[in-house]
Amino acid sequence: MDLKLIISKDGSHTLYREDIDETYHSRHGAVQESLHVFIDKGLKEVEKSKNEVNILEVGFGTGLNTLLTCINSTCKINYIGLETYPLHNAVLDGLNYDTSVIGDSSQEIFNAIHKAPWDEHHPITSLFSVKKVENEIQKFEIMEPIDLVYYDAFGPNSQPEMWDISIFEKLYKSMSSSGVFVTYCAKGQVRRDLKSIGFVVERLEGPPGKREMLRGKKL
Ligand SMILES: C[S@@+](CC[C@H](N)C(=O)[O-])C[C@H]1O[C@@H](n2cnc3c(N)ncnc32)[C@H](O)[C@@H]1O
Repeated sequence: MDLKLIISKDGSHTLYREDIDETYHSRHGAVQESLHVFIDKGLKEVEKSKNEVNILEVGFGTGLNTLLTCINSTCKINYIGLETYPLHNAVLDGLNYDTSVIGDSSQEIFNAIHKAPWDEHHPITSLFSVKKVENEIQKFEIMEPIDLVYYDAFGPNSQPEMWDISIFEKLYKSMSSSGVFVTYCAKGQVRRDLKSIGFVVERLEGPPGKREMLRGKKL
């Protein structure tokens, strides 16, 4: 699979997958998008009501969301990152998720996340542990109650199977009460599907370059 390194508009890198014509993050700003969608609208919302948070990310990819969660969280986080196509070190080593772009100690934390063994919870800091799992969401058995879902799959046009209502039903069932689901996607069908399952869905302002995003809450 061919991956190209791209500099997004905020100066942070993302990857471009030629076969499906998709980038791993917004071209308008990879770090900006991740901070807006997943940290500000997801993590910060859940932290208002929980002091320990189980996060499930669908599409671990470069680990950027994991890194930003580790840096920006204020409570204990148990993070599961699901990925069907783990990236090679040669690709990861080229990404600029370091001090100059993100902040102090980000390179250290990024390296620790990627050096962590797969399939087991591994401490990165005293408050943050990560378990990377090579599996697809369709097959993964969710064992722990999930407080926060980062839904960061490739878009519905290139990977429609990732936006099937059966996946959202599975996630909903695994979530704790007051659990939050966030995605950069604002497609009407996705919003209606989330609503029909039982989520209370909000259309929120999107990150730079995107009008809207979605957040679902399980009451
Ligand atoms: C938009 S990218 C994710 C970007 C990532 N969150 C990051 O910060 O780099 C989508 C990711 O989902 C992964 N993926 C594709 N199909 C999947 C599946 N069925 N289950 C879990 N992950 C999948 C892709 O390999 C890719 O890494």
